[in-house]
Amino acid sequence: MSAPVIGLSGSPKATSRSRALLELALAALERQAAGPSRLIDLAALPSDALLGRREDPAVAAAIQGVLDAGIVVVSTPIYRATYSGLLKVFFDLLPQDALARKVAIPIATGGGSTHLLAVDHGLRPLLASVGALVVATGVYGTDAQFRAGVPEPALVERIERAALEAASLASGVTI
Ligand SMILES: Cc1cc2nc3c(=O)[nH]c(=O)nc-3n(C[C@H](O)[C@H](O)[C@H](O)COP(=O)(O)O)c2cc1C
Repeated sequence: MSAPVIGLSGSPKATSRSRALLELALAALERQAAGPSRLIDLAALPSDALLGRREDPAVAAAIQGVLDAGIVVVSTPIYRATYSGLLKVFFDLLPQDALARKVAIPIATGGGSTHLLAVDHGLRPLLASVGALVVATGVYGTDAQFRAGVPEPALVERIERAALEAASLASGVTI
């Protein structure tokens, strides 16, 4: 039985493009039998616990979900040229090496292409800082690549490729 796949959505919006890409990535991973998946909306967690002011069972369960996963898929809107603060505060709560021996997929959406390197210069180092093996294919979508919330085929293909890489890596991860 494969370890679970966990998806972390770092958008505070109820209707979210980055979350839509995350859902597609989780579905692609399930098709590749990478493991049962679960999506966590970080915005649904209590903010004072996310800020580390108190402990909370829902936040503890989310952290445990990450620790138990084999693949971690992270999605975020680009805010001020990098990933959202919501994603940052959650990662600040993770133990050191929380993602060691796990494979990660970085996903972001932005208003335009100006900050597309935030995937490589922001998300990749964030994931590597807690030990993740990050797939070669990062996913970045612009708002113009969505029609009524649906991403264009090129973006979907990129998600499929990232999911394939993650499933392959996860099946062989022994480090
Ligand atoms: C506070 C705020 C800051 C933003 N900063 C940027 C930015 O620096 N670069 C960019 O490309 N888009 C920026 N955007 C646009 C969002 O990244 C973009 O609309 C994204 O697709 C939203 O993702 P979501 O639908 O998952 O929340 C910003 C939006 C907000 C609300």
